[in-house]
Amino acid sequence: MQIKVPFLDLWSQHLPLMSEFSQAIHEVIESSAFAGGRFVAAFEEDFAAYCEVPYAIGVGSGTEALWLSLLACGVGSGDEVITVPSTFMATAEAITYCGARPVFVDVDEQTYTMNPDALKPALTAKTKAIIPVHLFGQPSDMDPIVEFGRKHGLYVIEDACQAHGATYKGKRVGSFGDTACFSFYPGKNLGAFGEAGAVVTSNAELDEKIKVLRDHGQQRKYFHSVIGWNCRMDGIQAAVLRIKLRQLEAANQRRRNHAAQYDAGLREFDGVVTPVQASYARHVYHIYAIRVSDRDETIKFLADQGIATGVHYPVPVHLQEAYQILGYVPGAFPIAESCAAEFLSLPMYPELTPSQVEQVIQGVKETVTGGVEV
Ligand SMILES: Cc1ncc(COP(=O)(O)O)c(C=O)c1O
Repeated sequence: MQIKVPFLDLWSQHLPLMSEFSQAIHEVIESSAFAGGRFVAAFEEDFAAYCEVPYAIGVGSGTEALWLSLLACGVGSGDEVITVPSTFMATAEAITYCGARPVFVDVDEQTYTMNPDALKPALTAKTKAIIPVHLFGQPSDMDPIVEFGRKHGLYVIEDACQAHGATYKGKRVGSFGDTACFSFYPGKNLGAFGEAGAVVTSNAELDEKIKVLRDHGQQRKYFHSVIGWNCRMDGIQAAVLRIKLRQLEAANQRRRNHAAQYDAGLREFDGVVTPVQASYARHVYHIYAIRVSDRDETIKFLADQGIATGVHYPVPVHLQEAYQILGYVPGAFPIAESCAAEFLSLPMYPELTPSQVEQVIQGVKETVTGGVEV
């Protein structure tokens, strides 16, 4: 079956910008600023301004952004970090890679982000930090989370890897936590031509620590004050990201238009639960996930009509095989678990056309009603 509506189409996003990319990559090659350097510094300045914070630190991936943030906050062996099981594995991996233990709390049934009321029962003397995840592009409810963090002396690290440009109460995500972490994996709302990520912060001390940690712990070349790692961003990625950052607002608006069209077509439809934008949020729909009870059948039926879909994510992190060591059992987080069983991600990227969105809406309706046109 020929694909009529792909899940994602990066080529259509990049094609109109090809000459700008060529010019920018040419400049990187000419100056040989491949690892770190002036293109990374220029992107950091642009991205910090976009996130409305003073500092941005370009790194190799979103996973590194999370890991370095935790290290800079002093999280280590014996500590606990509270996060959610409805996320990509990397959120928890970064905690484990510091020697700390991920402690999960369930998500809110409507927003699929951290339920602030679940924090208190998860708090122990070992808790050092909280990582709320702005899942699918919807900001977590940051005010009560930050308030809880401040009250108990905890760091708050935003996992904003899926939420570039989303706002909470009118302010861009990235400016609420002690740090915020972004992924520029190619399919993200702001995506590079390979792996890249960034930490943003308003805290000068954390900025300095993370800059040193990402560059082998050196403040001056070959003088190493701490043990770090190589987490530098590539010059070519920075040059590409600077161009794409200029398109981000318009691209996010197109995603929001597609989401509004999906909402209007599917909201009242029995058997489908559409995502809810929280009253405090400007959702940027990195993923548009509906909930259906017969997901496998729906995927197959849509595929037969040339419509590609995805599942984010089929197993919540606390039930992943790799995390059996933590001892969680099915039933521990009922909302995260039912979401994992029912989530179905529909095609979502800025260059989708309204007629493609309409095809998907009709496809979903036909599937859910057993093949009858509605
Ligand atoms: C919520 C979340 N956290 C962390 C990451 C890790 O980012 P990266 O793939 O750039 O390492 C991702 C990327 O998929 C993500 O979606």
